[in-house]
Amino acid sequence: MPPMSKKILKALNGEVQNIPPFWLMRQAGRYLPEYREVRAQAGGFLDLCYNPDFATEVTMQPLRRYGMDAAILFSDILVIPHGLGQDVKFVAGEGPKLDPVRNLETLSSLSLDGFHERMNPVYEAVSSIRSAMRKEDLDDTALIGFAGSPWTVACYMVEGGGSKEFLHVKKWAYQKPEEFGKLISLLIEATTAYLRRQIDAGAEVIQLFDSWSGVLSETEFLRWVVEPTMRIVAGLKETHPDIPVIGFPKGCGAFYEIYAEKTGVDAVSLDFQIPLFQAVDMQKKMPVQGNLDPMALLAGGAALDREVDRILGALSGGPFIFNLGHGINKETPPEHVAQLANRIRKS
Ligand code: CP3
Repeated sequence: MPPMSKKILKALNGEVQNIPPFWLMRQAGRYLPEYREVRAQAGGFLDLCYNPDFATEVTMQPLRRYGMDAAILFSDILVIPHGLGQDVKFVAGEGPKLDPVRNLETLSSLSLDGFHERMNPVYEAVSSIRSAMRKEDLDDTALIGFAGSPWTVACYMVEGGGSKEFLHVKKWAYQKPEEFGKLISLLIEATTAYLRRQIDAGAEVIQLFDSWSGVLSETEFLRWVVEPTMRIVAGLKETHPDIPVIGFPKGCGAFYEIYAEKTGVDAVSLDFQIPLFQAVDMQKKMPVQGNLDPMALLAGGAALDREVDRILGALSGGPFIFNLGHGINKETPPEHVAQLANRIRKS
């Protein structure tokens, strides 16, 4: 095997690097004027996701400006429910809207029939991004594929969009766990198959986004976050043992360690509320990624430098990928991302 030249893969392999690799969640997006231009051409958000040329273009945009060490496939976690046959819309200014699934009857209208055909533009986007990266000589940059974790995707599917209380999904899970479990099983199967295809098309790392893992009690967390994640990771390791998996159980607080220990992920992505002493502790067991507050990036200036230095100071001594503790906010000035990139590279 040739020596590994990609910094992200080195970090995930446990290597400590003088200058850690970095990428940013939602690095392609509305804070960039060139993204907004392509987005306007594409029409709807899903039209952007399902057009491999547009998806490739917006994936490449932040790399050209800032030279991140990884690209992340441009898509969304809600393409899976869409591929299973649920009605999914992105309404400007309101976020995602789905026809809610709250019982066996609506659940039975969803299936894996035709799933890969519907997802084919995503797989095409993955291979097209890899060729664009080769063409633009980004040989040291890795491509990250992703999916939402079953719990978080189920939250959107059952609530029908974003939520504050997660009333419907939590009630269903408590009252009829066998029924809700059928939805989770379908998502485990779809997500595993979907990620295998992303890897076959050229994804070199996988990240699982579990944005709402922080709303569950202990028993429910073990059942609906840990167990399904463990099954997806085990499924991926069966067919693709060399592809590292990063888990991001955002907001799960005191459960982070259980998650890291039990799910089989190769690395954990830490949200911005995880204190650095806890991060350092977890880093003794596996590589960590994170965890700058996206609002520090939005604020910029001395506060940004201070926060970046604090994180680098604590975590550069172990295997580490610098990232945000959640996605970039759309109001972030692009110059602040340049400030961050320079600070990390000490240039
Ligand atoms: O990180 C990247 O650059 C890759 C692309 C990516 C997007 N969404 C693009 C996107 C990724 C990895 C996601 C993940 C995602 N999508 C999550 C998990 C991470 C998180 O943020 O917690 C979730 C919960 C979603 C669901 C989703 N997609 C919501 C709630 C929204 C609307 C909220 C908003 O910011 O407007 C989206 C839309 C979305 N996904 C946008 C982008 C760039 C903005 C849509 C637009 O351009 O109009």
